[in-house]
Order: sequence, then structure tokens, then C-alpha cells
Amino acid sequence: MSVSYMTHPLIKHKITLLRKQTTGTNEFRKLIEEIAMLMGYEALSDLPTADIKVYTPIEETIQPVINGKKLAVVPILRAGLGMVNGILALVPSAKVGHIGLYRDPETHEPHEYYCKLPENIDQRQIVVVDPMLATGGSAIAAVDFIKQRGGTKIKFMSVIAAPEGVSALMQAHPDIQLYVGCLDRCLNENAYICPGLGDAGDRIFGTI
Ligand code: PRP
Ligand code: URA
Repeated sequence: MSVSYMTHPLIKHKITLLRKQTTGTNEFRKLIEEIAMLMGYEALSDLPTADIKVYTPIEETIQPVINGKKLAVVPILRAGLGMVNGILALVPSAKVGHIGLYRDPETHEPHEYYCKLPENIDQRQIVVVDPMLATGGSAIAAVDFIKQRGGTKIKFMSVIAAPEGVSALMQAHPDIQLYVGCLDRCLNENAYICPGLGDAGDRIFGTI
């Protein structure tokens, strides 16, 4: 598995603002979407293009376009939803699937409650989005579901990751490409990322 860590100062700046406990729901949502767009720009730099004929006011020419219909964005519910519009701002014709997972508060094990993916998932470039990669349990389960349904070309984008989650995902799915906004120090005893940003789902949806 290849792991890319974001180095762009705009991404770093926005992640810092995201972490602040004084950042409210409205600003948090806006930041997550902007970070997803900036990370998406990096993560999609190898999207295949096809040549089409266009007419400029001067002459006919053959030029490259991407086929957005071949892209599937798959947020892990709930928090991944906050990243979807950032990717769609780049590729508006992408299809969107959903995987519903929650972590058991005691065991930290992921539990599935929903999975719906676009058709012909085996032919698509898939971008799974979830702001937090903590133990890696949710990410591993989401990629398992996608592979069980035929998906093969998988990228995973997380805004903040713990080293434990990166290692676990790398070991379980060595064939995927991982994009991390910032690698944090470690997990605490409740499997929260330190320094992290707290509970991403609660901060996006204002449920605290
Ligand atoms: C959070 C987060 C990830 C998961 C990461 O979701 O959005 O999906 O935890 O933790 P892991 O790497 O240890 O599995 P959560 O289960 O809190 O659900 P929510 O988004 O609905 O709040
Ligand atoms: N899920 C979150 O939302 N935050 C963490 O720090 C870990 C898991």
C-alpha cells in the first residue's frame, strides 16, 4: 500500500483550525469540505483521461477530459459525509455510495448498519472518505465490504490518522492507496486520536 502524507500549507492550516475546540459546527463543516477538496486534488492526480475532439474559436483540436462517471466516492457514515461535497466540487459527475459503520464505545469494534454502492463498482475508481483513521477497524471493514462487492481500484482519504490505524490498514489491505492529511501521535485509552480533533461525527453534525 502506498501512503501519501499531505504537505500543502493550506491543508495544514485548515487542519489546525479544525482541531480547535472553539471551532463551531458551521466552520467545522466548511473546513472539512475544503480540506477534502484540497486532498482530492492531490489524490486524483493520476485519474485517467481520454481524448475528445473540441472546436476552439480558432480550430478543431484533440484534448484530454476525465470521465467522472467512472469515479465513486464512498463516505463512511456519518463523518465521511462531511467530505463528499469537497470531492464532488472537483468531479461533479462522480457517483456516491454509502457505508454505515459505528464504533462500539466499549470494544471500539466497527458495526455495519448500511451499505449501498453504485453499480459496476468493479469498473470504477473508488475514493473512500472518512476524516478519522484511528484503530483502522472502520477503514478495514469498509474496504472489506467494497472488495466483497467487486471493487478493486481503491483510494482511502483520511484527514487525521493515528500510526496504529495506518499500520493496521496497510497490513489488511496492502493494495490500496492511502492519503492522510496529518499523521498524529497516538491513540488514547478510549481509542481517540491524540491530539486529534475529538469526535468528528459529533462535530460535523452538532450532536454533542
Ligand atoms: C469515527 C470515524 C471513523 C471511525 C474511526 O466514526 O468517523 O469512521 O470512528 O475509528 P476506527 O479507526 O477506530 O474505526 P464513529 O464510529 O464515531 O461513527 P460516526 O461517524 O457515526 O460518529
Ligand atoms: N473517531 C473520531 O471521531 N475521533 C477519533 O479521535 C477517533 C475515532
